[in-house]
Amino acid sequence: MFCYIRFIMNSTSNSGFAISEYHNTREIYAQIQALVEQEIRPIRREEMEIYLKGFEKKYASSKAVIDQAKKYIPGGVQHNLAFNYPYPIVFDRAEGAYLYDKDGNRHIDFLQAGGPTVLGSNYPAVKEKILELISSTGPSTGLFHEYELKIAQFICEHIPGVDMFRMLGSGTEACMAAIRVARLATGKKNIIKMGGGYHGWSDSLVYALRVPGTGGFDAHGIPRASRKYTQEAFPNDIRSLERRLRRNRLTGQGTAAVIVEPMGTESGTRPVDFDHNRQIRELCDTYGALLIFDEVVTAFRIGISGAQGYFGVKPDLTVFGKVVAGGYPAAGGLGGTTELMEYLAAGLQTGKKRVMVGGTMAANPLSSAAGYYTLVEIEKQNACEKAGKAGDRLTRGLQELIRAHGLPYVAYNQGSICHLETTGTMFLPINMKKFWTIPATLKEIKLRKHMMEEMGAAYMMEGIVTLAGSRMYTSMADTDEVIDEALAGFERVFKKM
Ligand SMILES: Cc1ncc(COP(=O)(O)O)c(C=O)c1O
Repeated sequence: MFCYIRFIMNSTSNSGFAISEYHNTREIYAQIQALVEQEIRPIRREEMEIYLKGFEKKYASSKAVIDQAKKYIPGGVQHNLAFNYPYPIVFDRAEGAYLYDKDGNRHIDFLQAGGPTVLGSNYPAVKEKILELISSTGPSTGLFHEYELKIAQFICEHIPGVDMFRMLGSGTEACMAAIRVARLATGKKNIIKMGGGYHGWSDSLVYALRVPGTGGFDAHGIPRASRKYTQEAFPNDIRSLERRLRRNRLTGQGTAAVIVEPMGTESGTRPVDFDHNRQIRELCDTYGALLIFDEVVTAFRIGISGAQGYFGVKPDLTVFGKVVAGGYPAAGGLGGTTELMEYLAAGLQTGKKRVMVGGTMAANPLSSAAGYYTLVEIEKQNACEKAGKAGDRLTRGLQELIRAHGLPYVAYNQGSICHLETTGTMFLPINMKKFWTIPATLKEIKLRKHMMEEMGAAYMMEGIVTLAGSRMYTSMADTDEVIDEALAGFERVFKKM
């Protein structure tokens, strides 16, 4: 009976949201636990050899460019999402569901530029508006353009927790602005994030990245003092969050804010129970901390009202990125209650203490217009739901393949955000209390990371671009035919395990 009621509550079919049915979070964690306990099973060595040899042939023109790029660009590539194994591919055309590389190969695009293109790549209705704008205003003036108002108004009217919106240059900048506002508004310093989560690369938030419990492990070049007030709680573990909040209260320091991705860290890679966000909201209210939703990935992908609309939980501040500029440059923004957002007042209002934010290119006409028309089209086309249906088809198909081939892998999705945990899974617990086990765990993480790279290279060879071999964003352009073609490619890889 209880399960039935939960199912009804969590099912939002035909609602305009990407998620047709919320996943069974506990079951996913149990499956992943079983996967982690298995010995590592990579692609058969002889098959991987064939893939790697074929790679050199198929992507010969890319290799020539990347060999040159290595001389001028550190690591030979500018973007962290780019596939680096065995070397990055050079793409020169993006259209709808497909990416075309320099050698003319066509790929199904599940990277989606890291998430922003819910409509599919280079959506014509948005592109036409942008071409018009570039020929009239040019990309930037530094002065007000009406599109700034249009996008702010749209966001305030659609996102429940947003009365006011300030556009910024990136999700990283917006996260920085959010914690600055929270600290000024509460007079407290501590920020709690969820272990494994990514909130951009600012000094104070490069903390416990990817693997919970790793603290400042990745914080090279960042003074310890910069993360003195950054703390982590464990994903989907409400008690660990409460312990942090309670400790901060007992020490008299309090907590300025809790920052979370509402679908779970790393775009829902570490999924959360349906009630988790409501519980976090309650704890924040009890302990006087602000709640920041980092909706860089989820806003306008899960639904036009964001993940907060889906869960029915209102944060104090919302961080935007990616879809907010529709795949065009300078994608970032912060929204929240009028009271909090006025700390960001620029130009017209002064006289109140305010936090410093800025950016020469922030809210330039190009980003504002691209974001505005993208959001209008997403709503008009019901794109979140359509992209979610494609994600459902992909995930169900992967689950069937996993069963059919007797593999221990785990596939799950939150609408158009699809996850595929294979032998390259990063779900390894770091146990800080059993410090002597850490080197062995880190060694295994390194090995599994390489397995993930191999999986990504194999998918690429089968014509599928994924995010780091383990995540796939779907878009409105992913028809049933596109998804079925992708599933055939995944099956060819699974047969080689
Ligand atoms: C949840 C989340 N927050 C923040 C960021 C940082 O955004 P940006 O890359 O625009 O700086 C990202 C980027 O992937 C993200 O996924």
